[in-house]
Amino acid sequence: MKESKTCIQTQNLCKTYYSQEKGVHVIRNLDMEVYKSDFTVIMGASGSGKTTLLYLLSGLDEATSGDVVYDDVKINDMKMKQLVEFRRKKIGYIFQGINLVPYLSLLENVSVIGKLITKNSKEVVEKSKKLLCDFDLEDELHRLPSEVSGGQQQRVAVARAMINDCQILFADEPTGALNTSQGKKMLDIMSEINKDGKSIVMVTHDLKAACRGNRILYLKDGKVHGELSLDAYDEKDLDEREQVVYNFLRKRGW
Ligand SMILES: Nc1ncnc2c1ncn2[C@@H]1O[C@H](COP(=O)(O)OP(=O)(O)OP(=O)(O)O)[C@@H](O)[C@H]1O
Ligand SMILES: [Mg+2]
Repeated sequence: MKESKTCIQTQNLCKTYYSQEKGVHVIRNLDMEVYKSDFTVIMGASGSGKTTLLYLLSGLDEATSGDVVYDDVKINDMKMKQLVEFRRKKIGYIFQGINLVPYLSLLENVSVIGKLITKNSKEVVEKSKKLLCDFDLEDELHRLPSEVSGGQQQRVAVARAMINDCQILFADEPTGALNTSQGKKMLDIMSEINKDGKSIVMVTHDLKAACRGNRILYLKDGKVHGELSLDAYDEKDLDEREQVVYNFLRKRGW
């Protein structure tokens, strides 16, 4: 059983997007927790607000109302400078759709964020190389994103998210663009990162990916509409985990 200590808590969290004077209430009075060292998975239909929620939890976007509390500090009360510092030092983020800078090499894509955090750019470049080598990209360091495969780009996105030695890694459909074997490799990387002690919050549509988590939250109508703990199930019995997750999702109309 994992230690359950809250690292993020939301209170009455709301997000409304306005377009053409019409409000779309995507997140509605949502209360939830993320626990330290957990591998939390967020699922829900397309358009249910998963990406929106990840942006709010990570401080990348502002809530319309309500609070996001991170280790007892309200991130919505932070001054801009404090918020930027918080994001740089504590948060890693793998975006839905990867978002690499097209005109920078893979190595530069990873090191550019690290250079914002520390002045020791030599150290950052060395660390970036090591991360890319860990992800089997030692021969592609100086290539542009357009010169490597989708799976390789996705691994660069993970390396970039980890350059700041974050406390919590957010991943928005990290296997979305990958084939089965590339997807499995990506999930092995995520499991490894979690075993090394980092908290992970991952959005996915994929049952196999969801089984890597130890806690699954289902998002519907702007709220958490059910949660499932996988702590009691054997990590290696993927068939059993898949069946349990499938039953949980099916009851919620997935
Ligand atoms: N910047 C925006 N302005 C207006 N509406 C938005 C904006 N971003 C998202 N939305 C709307 O908010 C809702 C939730 O979007 P979000 O991207 O969070 O969904 P999602 O659950 O991540 O979907 P998917 O599984 O397709 O990635 C959608 O109806 C979307 O059209
Ligand atoms: Mg999304």
